[in-house]
Amino acid sequence: MPDFLFLLESRLNPDQYRVVEQVQAAAAEHELHLYLVGGALRDLIYGYPIRDIDFAVEGQAVKVAKSLLKRAPDAKSIVADFDESMRSAYLTYPSGLTVEISACRTERRGRPGQKPQIEFTGIYDDLRRRDFSMNAIALSLNPNSRGLLLDPNNGVADIERHEIRTLSSAAFTDDPVRLIRAIRFKTRLRFNLDERTEEQFRAALDSGAIKNASPSGLHNEFREMGREENPVEILKALEKEGLTTAFHPRFVGSKLNLNGLTVVQKLARSIEDVGIPVRFQGPFFYFLQDKLPARDRNDLLKRMAMKRSDQEIWTSLEPRTKKLVQELSGKAAATPSKTYKLLEEQPGELLLFLLMKFPQKKIQDKVKNYLHRHRKMRQTLPRMELETLGVAPGTPKFQQVLDAYFWALLDGKVRSSKEPIKPLKKAIAEVEAGGEKAAKAAS
Ligand code: CTP
Repeated sequence: MPDFLFLLESRLNPDQYRVVEQVQAAAAEHELHLYLVGGALRDLIYGYPIRDIDFAVEGQAVKVAKSLLKRAPDAKSIVADFDESMRSAYLTYPSGLTVEISACRTERRGRPGQKPQIEFTGIYDDLRRRDFSMNAIALSLNPNSRGLLLDPNNGVADIERHEIRTLSSAAFTDDPVRLIRAIRFKTRLRFNLDERTEEQFRAALDSGAIKNASPSGLHNEFREMGREENPVEILKALEKEGLTTAFHPRFVGSKLNLNGLTVVQKLARSIEDVGIPVRFQGPFFYFLQDKLPARDRNDLLKRMAMKRSDQEIWTSLEPRTKKLVQELSGKAAATPSKTYKLLEEQPGELLLFLLMKFPQKKIQDKVKNYLHRHRKMRQTLPRMELETLGVAPGTPKFQQVLDAYFWALLDGKVRSSKEPIKPLKKAIAEVEAGGEKAAKAAS
């Protein structure tokens, strides 16, 4: 059995690990039992990158979240949503990390598609209500049993077999959104549905159960699809099963804009390849709806009861990019070095959107030069030569001189990058003069 606490420490990024520690401290303050659950634990066990973190609390989860927010030094930048009736809190961090802290509960279903009756209970009941065995594992974060794995449904063995297995024969009819989830996980993780699960999946699909999918469940799946590493592949897999129509009846064939999305996704990869992260969710949603008539688009959002603030992720792209294009056409980008500085501050998704939607050659060239020429140039600056001139690497001065040299190079003020000594000396003098000026101003 692996050491899960060690895995937690080594596999979570510092941002994620800090959150685990903060939630632990908040739960301990209220003397409540706390568990790590859901996708994060599945991905931790499987070795897949961990995205979001879900916690289950035996008791008042909202109190735990509120205590965490009270202590967190970055509380102001965390967006917190509370659902008191579900005793759940949803936190979104500036890095994009989302954290759910929910009270353990059971869900009793009436007719298919109906809202379940909720009862707040302990961790074992909570694990039983979940969709698949791989998602029904808990890791204790309690002082007395920290690191103990609760796996009553043999989820770990299923993960090792690369199998998706439902916990109940009614899993898909109880909550038809799980049909979409099964395909999403199958495609993303390259797992198979186990034999019985496959039968249940086909039976539920054939009975048209997906029509009963809840708006909130669809909303969640829609959002999650955009956060996948390869959303286009997932969209294709969903279409193959006829499941894209769950979002909107006309969401099939050319209306899905699969060809357009493939181009956008490729472009996003090429931006990431030069070292700029792209939050693809916004552009993905924008181009996913691009071929839908406006009326259907509104209908789609209504069906998922999507709030305006949720839509901003793609509706804000156009105005933000327009502003950037204006800046690129004006004084703010009058020289190559100014253009570089301006583009360096932009998130990858905005550069992607600009390249897709704003065809003016002058603007396109500026962005392409930045991405494919100038960023590369910056990686081959004459560091060794600067060292021989007596500037110590790793010091702020070293970086300042390199920057000054780079701006001069971009703006054509360096005759040949093969003879860097003279322009480097000039850059050193510039930086030293700048330093003296600043010191004088301060005194
Ligand atoms: N869950 C469920 N049925 C659903 C949705 C969610 O049983 N229709 C349970 C699962 O146990 C799941 C957990 O709630 O693991 C959290 O759901 P969610 O955050 O949507 O998905 P993850 O499994 O965490 O997967 P990922 O975030 O990686 O997509």
